[in-house]
Order: sequence, then structure tokens, then C-alpha cells
Amino acid sequence: MNAYSNAIETFDLTRQFGSFTAVDKVNFYVPKGEIFGLLGPNGAGKTTTIRMLCGIIKPSSGNASVLGFDIRKDSEEIKKNIGYMSQKFSLYNDLKAIENLQFYAAIYGVEKSERNRRIQDLIDQSGLRGVEYELTSSLSGAWRQRLALACAIAHKPPMLFLDEATAGVDPLSRREFWDLIYEMASEGTSIVATTHYMDEAEYCNTIGMMYQAEMIALASPDRLKDEMPGVLVQISCDKPLQAEEIADQFPGVIDAALHGIRLHVTLKNEDKITALTNTLQAAGILVEDVETILPSLEDVFINMVESRLKEKPQNSLEVN
Ligand SMILES: Nc1ncnc2c1ncn2[C@@H]1O[C@H](COP(=O)(O)OP(=O)(O)OP(=O)(O)O)[C@@H](O)[C@H]1O
Ligand SMILES: [Mg+2]
Repeated sequence: MNAYSNAIETFDLTRQFGSFTAVDKVNFYVPKGEIFGLLGPNGAGKTTTIRMLCGIIKPSSGNASVLGFDIRKDSEEIKKNIGYMSQKFSLYNDLKAIENLQFYAAIYGVEKSERNRRIQDLIDQSGLRGVEYELTSSLSGAWRQRLALACAIAHKPPMLFLDEATAGVDPLSRREFWDLIYEMASEGTSIVATTHYMDEAEYCNTIGMMYQAEMIALASPDRLKDEMPGVLVQISCDKPLQAEEIADQFPGVIDAALHGIRLHVTLKNEDKITALTNTLQAAGILVEDVETILPSLEDVFINMVESRLKEKPQNSLEVN
């Protein structure tokens, strides 16, 4: 293996599809054993970034190193040394769980003499003991996902890419999945993960927020929250939708967004809280509670994307 200090380093990494730029001069690094989260709305360029780092597609300009290998020149070496799990991971449904493991262990070049022991370890490590002889098609989503992870790491890769690996899985199973990921990171595996679940983003050492092909923020979850501009206020009222519309137009409001039945409003400063409350009440809205709160990562994410959207409007933007 190459000597490397950072598992990933990118230098103005760029990818175009025709005249469209999907990833635009993206720079970040991932220290060995860290979990890096790539966040961003649909179409931001996350999967394209990962595909370049995995050596599946070439950058149009710029470059990156993965485990010390050059993604332009050493894509074959990279493919051998990484694990990649996407949302559409391919498991063979007509095989038993253990047969999928045997198949992937062989594909990833695990020595024949070591294969059985490795597969048994993977079954234990990923909690698949007891279902290993079940047909893959009969496993629930959460089991299939654990199996897919076990397959992706059959060759003990020092670097793992997870692209929406937990989409559609229930919260408890997602947590258990992340426990496995944490364990791997603590043993030195470096991880790059994309997710639309903000609770998962909290598990990352560093978050890179992508928007329209660019990296618009890069920091730890805590720092992103600390650095969110303005003051965040949570408003409980009887007509949250109407309140959001009014708040959006109110001078001094950076952003207003619904969080369930409550309204989160980011104001430039605290002085505006009373005036906003009065305006809402004057419009016939019953304001039950107004509270200054610490932002969650979801607030940061929505705030960043919406303030970018105001700067650089786009016809359609789906945020989930
Ligand atoms: N092979 C391709 N040819 C043309 N355009 C592409 C190709 N792959 C991706 N794109 C475009 O590049 C942009 C970024 O796509 P990408 O899949 O990287 O986004 P993403 O951030 O992963 O989104 P999502 O959250 O929906 O998975 C999108 O507008 C997409 O349509
Ligand atoms: Mg994607």
C-alpha cells in the first residue's frame, strides 16, 4: 500500500457532462480514519464526486488522490482498495446471504484459503448470524443493507464510500448501521458518506455541503451550527403555513422554514422578534410560543441552500 497521510485529497476536482458542470473545482481532504459527510440537495454533484474518487469516471479537470493513489492514473489500484456501497447496491436475490458474501469475497480477490474465515467474521461483525442461510430475496431491507455492507467490505478496504447507503431503512436499523460504520472508523477505515438524513450527518467528523456543483461549506457539524448567521427562533402558532409566508417577507428575516408544525425563523438579530410576533398576531395568527433555539444541522442545511437560492435562483430545486 502507498504511504499517505490523508485518505483523500482533492484539487479543484471538476467534472463536466457536455457543457454542464456537475462538480466544480471541489477541494477537500479526509484524514485517515475519519468520517466525511457529503451533503447537498438532489443533483448537487455528490454521486459524481464519489464516482470520480472511486475511479469509475475521470475528472474533466483537477485531480484527487485516494489512499495515495492518483485517480487519473491509478484507478485500477483504487478499485481494488476501496469499498463502495450505493443506494442501488447489487445483491443477487436468488442466492443465499452467505452465497452473496462468497461471491463478493471472490470478486474482491480475498485469498481462497482465507475466504471462509473472512466470511464468518463478516457474518458476526454485521450481525447476520442466524440469517446467513436465508435467501437474499426473503431478507428485510435492513438485513439486505447489512449484507450489502458486508459484501462491500469483504476485502477489508481501508477506504469506504457510502452513497445514500441507508435510504429507506428504519431509524433503529440506521443507527445500528452507523454503529458498524463508527466501529470501522475507530479501527482506521476512512469513510466518505452521502446522506439526506441529518441525524446521520451528525455522526461525521467533517461535513462538506455541496450546492449546484460547488462546495459551499466545509466544517465539523458543531462549527457549521455555531457559524450559522443570525438568531434562530422557533414559533408555535395555529397557522404555521400562513405564518411562514408572512415571516418570509418580514424585514430582517434571513430565512423561514417549517419544521413539522413549528416554524423556524432566522432573524438578523434578536431585536426583530417582538416586531415579527406582533405582525403575526395582527394577521390573526394565534402565537402560542416564541423561543430562541440552537440550530440543528437541518436548520443549517436549509438556511445555506435557501440563501444560495436567493443569490442564484434556479427554476426547480428539490430538497429532501
Ligand atoms: N452521466 C451523466 N450525464 C449527464 N449528466 C449527469 C450524469 N451524471 C450526473 N449528471 C448530472 O449531474 C448533476 C449531479 O448529479 P449527481 O448524481 O452527482 O447529484 P447528487 O448530488 O448525487 O444528487 P442526489 O442527491 O439526487 O443523488 C445532476 O444534474 C445530474 O443530472
Ligand atoms: Mg446521488
